Amino acid sequence: MSRPCRALIDLNALRHNYRLACELAPDAQAIAVVKANAYGHGSVAAAKALEPLAPALGVACIEEALELRAAGIAKPILLLEGIFSADEVNVAATENFWLMVENLEQVQHIINAKLVNPVHCWLKVDTGMHRLGLLPEQVDGALSILKASDNVQQGIILASHFSSADEINNPSTNAQIECFDTLLADCEQSKDLAQSLSNSAAILAHPRAHRQWLRPGFMLYGASPFTTPQINADRLLPVMDFVSEVISVRPIAAGERVGYGGKWQAGRDSIIATIAAGYGDGYPRHAGNGTPVFINGQEAHLVGRVSMDMITVDVTDLAGIEIGSPVELWGKNLCVNRIANAAGTIAYELLTRMPARPVRSYLS
Ligand SMILES: Cc1ncc(COP(=O)(O)O)c(C=O)c1O
Repeated sequence: MSRPCRALIDLNALRHNYRLACELAPDAQAIAVVKANAYGHGSVAAAKALEPLAPALGVACIEEALELRAAGIAKPILLLEGIFSADEVNVAATENFWLMVENLEQVQHIINAKLVNPVHCWLKVDTGMHRLGLLPEQVDGALSILKASDNVQQGIILASHFSSADEINNPSTNAQIECFDTLLADCEQSKDLAQSLSNSAAILAHPRAHRQWLRPGFMLYGASPFTTPQINADRLLPVMDFVSEVISVRPIAAGERVGYGGKWQAGRDSIIATIAAGYGDGYPRHAGNGTPVFINGQEAHLVGRVSMDMITVDVTDLAGIEIGSPVELWGKNLCVNRIANAAGTIAYELLTRMPARPVRSYLS
């Protein structure tokens, strides 16, 4: 009785992927990153599934953290970009949100706040990504100020973020690790601090970067951050099955065109199936002719432009396709990375840009 386009979210797969991160770095603790609506999977459901396993969760901003608190999540929540304004320090202290400290302005806001209890701080150093974080030469001074403040809990974590850990042989990851370790050796204030460097790609492929705290995001959702097979990434289980159904099947003659702009022309007499999923559901509009679509247990190919609510698929060579035939746009049978590739983007974008329109159903 309802439109069949939906996202089935396998919370057991999510937990499996979190456990894999922990298994790969058995001496570390792992923050479960559920920002951007848990990369499109539903942050409250993902956080509830992971809270019993993870010592803390990670989000991008205080609004995302407050949404989790309102839903009853009690574990500490790390704000990966820290505060955006001074008033957020008080909220963080009250709500047990941990603060990534990215710059000297944030340091000042933290030490100048009037707090009921101190906040837990992670100090981020820019080791080469040049996006956020203190310069290495600023770290000693910032640590002295933070450690001397009653507003800051003991046990600051020193963190950094990689620019290219997903390119396994890119030398910049080692260069960033060297920069970080040189800082640790040179900076008196940082010697006793726990460290955090690893996002998903580093957890999977750069054990040298594991340290005491991991920050897995993308890998939790079961796709590989790499473009080539990788022994650990190959153990990930896809969490989202983006599914729908065939809503129309029609024969067309050779030479006829399909979809907006008539951008695909049949080279032979063909059968076209129309599927209820389009860019209004998060399917990428730039997916071109030939993008794989899994119909009734077989792979077929997208033809014609992606519409807001529908796509069209050449099923001429497939048996048994009819109205109601099940379709997987991506998921366990069709890796989301293949669709991202076909659309000239990355799976991070496809997943996080999925709108609310495809109903999420949770399998636990
Ligand atoms: C600071 C920080 N840590 C961890 C992550 C998680 O990264 P990934 O999703 O690649 O695991 C992100 C994501 O952007 C981040 O910004």
